[in-house]
Amino acid sequence: MAVIYWNSAWQKLRSPQFRSGLYLAQWVHTYSQVRDRLPYRRQFAVPGFVRRHAGNLTDRDGRLWRAVAACVIAAEIALPPALSTADGQQVYGCILSSMELNLTTKRALVTGSSAGLGEATAKLLAAEGAAVVIHGRDKDRAQKVAQEIRDAGGTATVALGDLATDEGAAEVVRAATADGPVDILVNNAGFYRHLSWAEAAPDEWNDTYNINVVSGVRMIQQLVPAMRERGWGRVITIGGGLASQPMNTHPQYNATLAARHNLAVSLARDLKDTGVTSNVVSPGAILVEATKDLVTSIGPARGWGDTWEEIQPNAVQALIPNDHSRFGKPDEIAAAVAYLCSDYAEYISGATIRVDGGLIRSAF
Ligand SMILES: NC(=O)c1ccc[n+]([C@@H]2O[C@H](COP(=O)([O-])OP(=O)(O)OC[C@H]3O[C@@H](n4cnc5c(N)ncnc54)[C@H](OP(=O)(O)O)[C@@H]3O)[C@@H](O)[C@H]2O)c1
Repeated sequence: MAVIYWNSAWQKLRSPQFRSGLYLAQWVHTYSQVRDRLPYRRQFAVPGFVRRHAGNLTDRDGRLWRAVAACVIAAEIALPPALSTADGQQVYGCILSSMELNLTTKRALVTGSSAGLGEATAKLLAAEGAAVVIHGRDKDRAQKVAQEIRDAGGTATVALGDLATDEGAAEVVRAATADGPVDILVNNAGFYRHLSWAEAAPDEWNDTYNINVVSGVRMIQQLVPAMRERGWGRVITIGGGLASQPMNTHPQYNATLAARHNLAVSLARDLKDTGVTSNVVSPGAILVEATKDLVTSIGPARGWGDTWEEIQPNAVQALIPNDHSRFGKPDEIAAAVAYLCSDYAEYISGATIRVDGGLIRSAF
């Protein structure tokens, strides 16, 4: 319980909103103390609303200011995490750990976090207190995500590199470990092309396997040995429902998802008694930009409608019938990953958490 309270308070104290509020209060108070000693021109360098307010402060008011500031700080520190809003993100403008997973001492590398599921995952891990490394090949996209995390009070750095090559992967590892070891590795980077059996040439199979499977292996081989030495670590592999229930299209991609599930379980066996776990989060069809673009482009020709509101239910029914009649959301994948990263999931090893609305129909 104490850990949860401290974690919550620490997140709030680090938030820009809380700090800027305190700075302003401190500024008003300092100005009220020194205003009579400031030359006339310097006094007018101070914004009008501060001058008007602080100019009327007496010594008694100054003492009152300090008492109020002390009460605010005490209340912020003692404020129970249960006061979070429905979406669990903000309390009085301050970031709270939405699931209270206590990742404050952890460093996490989420590959492919410049967009989509990886971006949502990195943002949630940061909200849970982890220092995150944002990765992608496109510098601007990765920097933007890292900046958004820092603006929300989190800690984020960037590692750039193409994981399809040994050199690119080594560069990512070098940048990701520059500020400390990586405790959590989320192997998420990947791609697919919507091809038929006739279109998917052998080279396409090779490229897809390299980018979707071997990229993760490169990260595992370079980062997991240090986790073993420290006796704590988490490797989360993003798999997919197509691993066990493939469609007739993009077979080169379906097969890479199956390989990811398989290697993650093999790794779990290899990590026996090390304190490091390996598990899979298996998304169904999650609505990211590329999915929406694809479905919107094929929708009218298939008679699903013209607008997204018309197309979505028909597309879901035709392509991914599930118990919720909608596409999944990136945040829903992020939540499962974050849980597996926490100490609550210590006894989960070589498992798959399906986050697919019930798309995969099998009991196991
Ligand atoms: N969306 C779904 O419905 C769904 C379902 C099941 C599984 N998945 C899996 O979930 C993962 C994320 O999917 P998403 O939909 O979020 O994809 P996305 O929006 O296209 O994002 C893919 C990410 O991977 C990075 N990336 C791609 N190729 C890379 C390479 N060679 N080296 C380094 N980074 C690379 C991209 O960064 P840059 O472009 O900046 O390099 C980007 O950050 C993928 O592995 C996918 O197979 C997705």
